[in-house]
Amino acid sequence: MSAALADGYDRIRRFVPPFEWPALAEDVAEIVRLKREKNAIVLAHNYMSPEIFHCVSDVVGDSLALAREAQQADADVIVMAGVHFMAETAKLLNPDKTVLMPDMHAGCSLAESITASDVRSLRARHPGVPVITYVNTSAAVKAESDICCTSGNVKRVVESLGVPEVILIPDKYLAANVARETHVRIIAWQGACEVHERFTPRQIRGLRRDNPGVVVLAHPECPPEVVGEADFAGSTAAMADYVERRAPAKAVLITECSMADNLAVLHPEVEFVRPCNLCPHMKRITLGNIRRALETGETEIAIAPELAARARRAVERMLAL
Ligand code: 13P
Ligand code: SF4
Repeated sequence: MSAALADGYDRIRRFVPPFEWPALAEDVAEIVRLKREKNAIVLAHNYMSPEIFHCVSDVVGDSLALAREAQQADADVIVMAGVHFMAETAKLLNPDKTVLMPDMHAGCSLAESITASDVRSLRARHPGVPVITYVNTSAAVKAESDICCTSGNVKRVVESLGVPEVILIPDKYLAANVARETHVRIIAWQGACEVHERFTPRQIRGLRRDNPGVVVLAHPECPPEVVGEADFAGSTAAMADYVERRAPAKAVLITECSMADNLAVLHPEVEFVRPCNLCPHMKRITLGNIRRALETGETEIAIAPELAARARRAVERMLAL
């Protein structure tokens, strides 16, 4: 085994048993070689499994960071180790580059909760009210929007428009959570994240009872009653930053499971208490299909130019803030 591979395994050994590593190591070595050959990079969301996050990614982060990095990517090929809307966002920002999605079925319950025609109906019902669209949506929905936001900048985006009322779609919980922090009136949609909506306030209270002193960090896609029980709420990057800055002795991340695994590698001094919920969409991405994407050039993201131009405007307006 090369020194780089041994180092990779060292980082993730708590999560990958030794008998599984040889097969994964072969994929890791091949992905690293193919990236070099094709001038490709792998952008990986914080919810990727540790072997992807720690062994083959060039950039890791939350949706906002991945969009920013995609905008600056100095590569011919971008492989998105994340879900479909993230690959579309990367393509919007890099129309001339090849953006590859290792599994086109890696969707998102939020993105599936709303269509472009729903947005047009909302606008008709609320004439003149600007539409802010969470990045967890299709390019077609973004194309109907004034500006995008992520969980990392939602309050700033809402307040940047200088209006008393906005339409914020499609996550009803993100909308309710930001409504508590701003005087801007929020008109919401009924979408929800199937991973975060399953957490309950009772669960958090039980965790505190069983783990005295535990610090509870929650994603703002959780219901407001869950966020209300947490010590801190923020995007996946904001949670990572909290752990980095405050180094709590014991923490629980009320979010997708791989997030705590990935942070545990970087912060062995912090004890991460589970539970967590798996995102079935994120978990579709594997070393095997990242390797296949690089080998075959499939599946490439394509967005019709006229629609892409309108969707890009909404994403770029957010990034310019
Ligand atoms: P972040 O932008 O906070 O990484 O969230 C993306 C996501 O899909 C959370 O479920
Ligand atoms: Fe979508 Fe929720 Fe999965 Fe994030 S965790 S990709 S919001 S379903």
